[in-house]
Amino acid sequence: MNTIQIKNLTFKPYITKETLQTTVKTIAERINADYRDQEVLFIGMLNGAFIFAADLLKHINLTCKISFVKMASYEGTTSTGEIKEIIGLNESVKGKHVIVVEDIVDTGLTIQTMYHTLQAQQPLSLEICTLILKPEKYDNSVPLKYVGHSISNEFIVGYGLDYDGYGRNIASIYQLQE
Ligand code: IMP
Repeated sequence: MNTIQIKNLTFKPYITKETLQTTVKTIAERINADYRDQEVLFIGMLNGAFIFAADLLKHINLTCKISFVKMASYEGTTSTGEIKEIIGLNESVKGKHVIVVEDIVDTGLTIQTMYHTLQAQQPLSLEICTLILKPEKYDNSVPLKYVGHSISNEFIVGYGLDYDGYGRNIASIYQLQE
């Protein structure tokens, strides 16, 4: 695979689409086993988790629903530290097994806000499922039950992840070339 150019930046191949599909299937199998015979409400985090959530749900064999919320904490390649909830949750989480599906956890600020908002609504259980974790900056404020890949602290795009809105459509993940 070759490098790709998105706007002013060059990215090199990092995680292949085959590896991603294996990871997604492995996580789904764990969830299927952990919640056997129970109903689950998945909450996908827009925009980044739309592909991961779609692929994950195809492997889930439980009785389930999915709902999406939209929050943003990033502009360009550095965190602004601002969290804005743009699309709220219409589905009640009270008394339900809830799994939040996130594309990537970096500082943890986004997932922390989400976790505490949902926890206040008294779900029966609440877990986080993230495809990617950057552990170097993560503050460990919230337990992450399902993690696909732990990676170093470099900026990545593809498979739902963007650089300035671009690159979400790429089937594999690319890493910023320094
Ligand atoms: P956190 O709040 O610092 O954990 O940031 C999480 C959010 O930042 C994710 O949902 C992404 O939208 C974005 N993000 C963090 N790292 C990257 C990256 O390497 N590429 C693209 N988006 C990222």
